[in-house]
Amino acid sequence: MSQDIFGLTGKHAIVWGGGFGMGERTSFRLSEAGAHVAVVDLEQARAEKIAGEINAAGGKAIALQADATSEPSVEAALAAAEAALGPVDVMATVIGLGVWDQVVEMSLDTFNKSILLNLTSFFLPARAVGRSLLKNKKSGAIACVSSVSGLTSAPNHAGYGAAKAGMINLVRTMADEWGPYGIRVNAAMPGSAATPRLTLNEAGQAAMNAAMKAKIPLGRAATPDELAKAILFLLSDLASYVTGHNLHVDGGWTSNFLMQGQGKGGPSQASVVNWPE
Ligand SMILES: NC(=O)c1ccc[n+]([C@@H]2O[C@H](COP(=O)([O-])OP(=O)(O)OC[C@H]3O[C@@H](n4cnc5c(N)ncnc54)[C@H](O)[C@@H]3O)[C@@H](O)[C@H]2O)c1
Repeated sequence: MSQDIFGLTGKHAIVWGGGFGMGERTSFRLSEAGAHVAVVDLEQARAEKIAGEINAAGGKAIALQADATSEPSVEAALAAAEAALGPVDVMATVIGLGVWDQVVEMSLDTFNKSILLNLTSFFLPARAVGRSLLKNKKSGAIACVSSVSGLTSAPNHAGYGAAKAGMINLVRTMADEWGPYGIRVNAAMPGSAATPRLTLNEAGQAAMNAAMKAKIPLGRAATPDELAKAILFLLSDLASYVTGHNLHVDGGWTSNFLMQGQGKGGPSQASVVNWPE
């Protein structure tokens, strides 16, 4: 017996940054759950590739080029998506980039860029979709991708961390303001994710794997699809009573202070035979 547990069949979804990495997987997951998807990306070719693959697999998708940090571009993309698919029900933003520098060396331009790429790129699409849902008197759901950098501190993370912390708080404010209208707003929070953007050589990958094993209780980075599944959950009826939440999808990284590079967890060595290395 099959059941539409996600409640997304025939719903209209828009995914900003939906042409690559976690966003690509999010576009596919929403389509598999029955949604019609507007795949929006700064790079037209990426959006077209993913929308094409969804349509070829029997789903329904359109491709749109837009810059999520530009107000007119966001407004135009949402208008085009709604003209093609109908009023939007759910949206995800899966955009962000680290720009690293010590505070004393960080230029204003670098700081502003971090805020623009990571926080404004969520604010503008979410505000546009929130306005549309309110105007059309529709309930709906919005999700974004935060980061452990928004919860914890680390050298060189000033701009990225401040933007992601801002995102976590903006989610709560939107959830407060729009909750009475049945609009839910949440974030999915990765720790480390093996997205295709991060290309490492063999030695770099080995060092990364060792670092992840030491820091993360589950012992590895997330796959892009593991974030997409969390976003799907947050946008679906399965999360019908979840709003204003920052869902940790970090393999346990932030759950245990003692795991922060200070040693390996698990049962004491004395109590375990053949504990995996
Ligand atoms: N990879 C990690 O370890 C990690 C950890 C924590 C958080 N995150 C967060 O996960 C999210 C996704 O990461 P990813 O590695 O999959 O990203 P990515 O850079 O691989 O993909 C993002 C997509 O967004 C598009 N894009 C970029 N700027 C845009 C803009 N202004 N307007 C429209 N589209 C734009 C890109 O073209 C790309 O297709 C980001 O918010 C990132 O901060 C990643």
